[in-house]
Amino acid sequence: MDDEIFSLVKKEEERQRNTLDLIASENYTSKAVLEITGSVLTNKYSEGYPGKRYYAGNEFIDQTETLAIERAKKLFKVGYANVQPHAGAIANLAAFQAFLNPGDKIMGMDLSHGGHLTHGSPVNFSGKLYNVVSYGVSKETETIDYDEVMKLAKQEKPNLIICGYTAYPRTVYFDRFKEIANEVGAVLLADIAHIAGLIAGEAHPSPAKYADVITSTTHKTLRGPRGAIILTDNEENAKKINKAVFPGVQGGPLDHVIAAKAVCFYEALQPEFKDYARQVVKNAKVLAEELTSFGYRLVSGGTDNHLMLVDLTAKEITGKEAQHALEEVSIIVNRNTVPFDTRSPFITSGIRLGTPALTTRGLKEPEIKEVASLIHRTLKGEDKEKIRGEVHELVGKFPIYA
Ligand SMILES: Cc1ncc(COP(=O)(O)O)c(C=O)c1O
Repeated sequence: MDDEIFSLVKKEEERQRNTLDLIASENYTSKAVLEITGSVLTNKYSEGYPGKRYYAGNEFIDQTETLAIERAKKLFKVGYANVQPHAGAIANLAAFQAFLNPGDKIMGMDLSHGGHLTHGSPVNFSGKLYNVVSYGVSKETETIDYDEVMKLAKQEKPNLIICGYTAYPRTVYFDRFKEIANEVGAVLLADIAHIAGLIAGEAHPSPAKYADVITSTTHKTLRGPRGAIILTDNEENAKKINKAVFPGVQGGPLDHVIAAKAVCFYEALQPEFKDYARQVVKNAKVLAEELTSFGYRLVSGGTDNHLMLVDLTAKEITGKEAQHALEEVSIIVNRNTVPFDTRSPFITSGIRLGTPALTTRGLKEPEIKEVASLIHRTLKGEDKEKIRGEVHELVGKFPIYA
């Protein structure tokens, strides 16, 4: 037994148990997902796809991957699913590879307005391999101005348009993006990494009817193992996607993770998952309302989904300082730029808060109000020792793995 690593994992388990996790991209998987991720499937090599593998011995691996594919199709109401991508960034790399040549033009949201690194950031492959044009949110409303996006698309004529974000608290209107993509003949990619669980639970509109290709992680609101999927409703697109994933950008798939994705899709297909998704949104709304009542300004004035951005520009504290102060009382958040931020991404003027993990733990509106008050008291500079004690008392009532 490796005592060093075992003891670190135990400490991490304890840290998770004793903290309030408001990181919008994190969640707690079920015990079943944890167990399958730690199963003997990790021992197998299975380059290729079910029925078309390069090595022998894939009888049961084929069955798990087929189950994962069928469940993903049913959950997201699409005709085709690739469940092999190792991560969200790799899914986007493969999707671009399927539909673009290096030098083609992609149009995504600027990182500082809520887009992801893989949507064209100059430090990422997406910004190096492709010609990038970025759109942002409107300065007045801090939401997407679809008419402006249309104007930019007509001017720039991108080959591919990305919608779906990392830090955007409002509903994404995929139908509007489809109109824009159609107008300029672009491929429409919906990156639903953040909102996949809300879409599966019918708490956010689905891009299934509109996007040519959908990429998603499985570990955020969807509550599965770390990993990703690529979906489409079009057979020709599905063939391109499969080739782009393997042999395009990956070798052997992570069979243990694919089996755990199948478990995650099974769980998300149960009626209770709809209750979960609805509660995530309700909890976010309550957190947003409470923080607003304490005098905080939220980007775009609130939230429609699982996350919100708190703009601390008018406060005496930066995003970095707020993140640190909250961590000292066992409240875990991430600093985040706000649109048109004057501070660097390392310092930032905001924090991003999300409710997926706390909702999985069982917190509902009354406890979320308590969380808002704990955040406010911490940022006001009240006694940290006392607040930390109250956080521990609260989380003690909501065990993660009973
Ligand atoms: C919108 C979006 N796409 C892609 C990713 C990348 O996912 P991963 O971290 O699994 O590579 C993220 C992760 O934060 C994301 O928010």
